[in-house]
Amino acid sequence: MTARSRSAASGRAGGIAARLIIAMALVIIAGGITALLIAALVGPVFFHHHLIEVENSPGTTFEHAEAAFISASTLTLAIALGASALTSLAVSLILARRIGASLGTMSTAAAQVAAGRFQARVARPRVGAEFDELADAFNDMATRLDRDEDLRRRLMADVAHELRTPVTTISATVDALEDGVQQLDPQTVEVLRTQASRLTRLAADLAAVTRAETGALHLDRQPMTPQEVLEVAAESARDRYTAAGVELVVEASTHLPEVWVDADRFGQVLANLLDNALRHTPTGGRVGLGASRHGDGVRLVVADTGEGIDGVHLPHVFERFYRVDTARDRDHGGSGIGLSITRALVHAHGGTITAHSAGVGTGTRFVIDLPAAATVADLPTADLQ
Ligand SMILES: Nc1ncnc2c1ncn2[C@@H]1O[C@H](COP(=O)(O)OP(=O)(O)OP(=O)(O)O)[C@@H](O)[C@H]1O
Ligand SMILES: [Mg+2]
Repeated sequence: MTARSRSAASGRAGGIAARLIIAMALVIIAGGITALLIAALVGPVFFHHHLIEVENSPGTTFEHAEAAFISASTLTLAIALGASALTSLAVSLILARRIGASLGTMSTAAAQVAAGRFQARVARPRVGAEFDELADAFNDMATRLDRDEDLRRRLMADVAHELRTPVTTISATVDALEDGVQQLDPQTVEVLRTQASRLTRLAADLAAVTRAETGALHLDRQPMTPQEVLEVAAESARDRYTAAGVELVVEASTHLPEVWVDADRFGQVLANLLDNALRHTPTGGRVGLGASRHGDGVRLVVADTGEGIDGVHLPHVFERFYRVDTARDRDHGGSGIGLSITRALVHAHGGTITAHSAGVGTGTRFVIDLPAAATVADLPTADLQ
């Protein structure tokens, strides 16, 4: 909660300040009503009684009237003060018990979260808007921690799983070499090299996705035309496309606004998409790189005529380690991190990326929406990195 919303909460109806003011007003009203009642009902009787006594006792009328007034007003004040004190005691006790109970619940839940039990939640205590907001903030924090912990666990399991195959292959090969079952021929060296480079790539990919997702990535941005961005990416992939017999075309509309990108990092975004498209498009297929205006920004599209993605898998392809066909995609050397890195990099550029496919055999389209350079150039540098 921001300082502004905090001060708004304390001023608003239902806030703790408003409740305290109401409690104090209750005390004053109770005291006032009691004083009025006593003054109206008991005071005159008392006063009257004193005046009757004037007849039967010595002393002047003036002295008796004065004594009657003093005792009547003292009695009225004493009873009114007693009533105020009782009301104030009751109100303070009720408030203190409710606040104490809600703080107690909150601290128990906080202790549970501190002990790693992130499922702990608290109910809104309803003793003031600030307490309800504190409970909501606590629940949000616990939900987030719970989700992060779940992600961390899954990530550890996935990393362990990814490491197992190459590590097992390397150690089995080394054992076989040691026992003399296998010779250190070029084929064995190739097996060792492939598995070692798979480990190296996994480490580099994990570092890249972590850097991009935690925002620890420094972007060296410059204004570029969308056409230029696409041409550079297409040129780097051209040879591999030619070798695989897949056509690669760039179709960018003219007069598009410039985009504000880090050429290397954004090159990596398109390289990942082009790499996937090539891997999933058979010889004779076609991959198109397009750019068009989209609202105030620019839309970049990488569309292939390849195998497409089933609707069941589409929502998951940006998740770390997600592969549609685990065995086959792994055989290609992929670890399923490419699209997570891609999405994190696009987000770091202030853009969004989505995947579309009408199903298996219908090709796949990746759509990136980026803000135009003119709309982001005014932002402070910290927001751009
Ligand atoms: N153009 C595409 N056509 C069909 N399927 C695709 C396409 N792009 C991605 N996929 C599917 O989405 C999955 C996730 O892609 P991602 O790039 O994250 O991983 P990868 O290519 O398998 O491995 P890596 O990129 O880490 O080498 C892929 O395994 C593949 O099954
Ligand atoms: Mg990939």
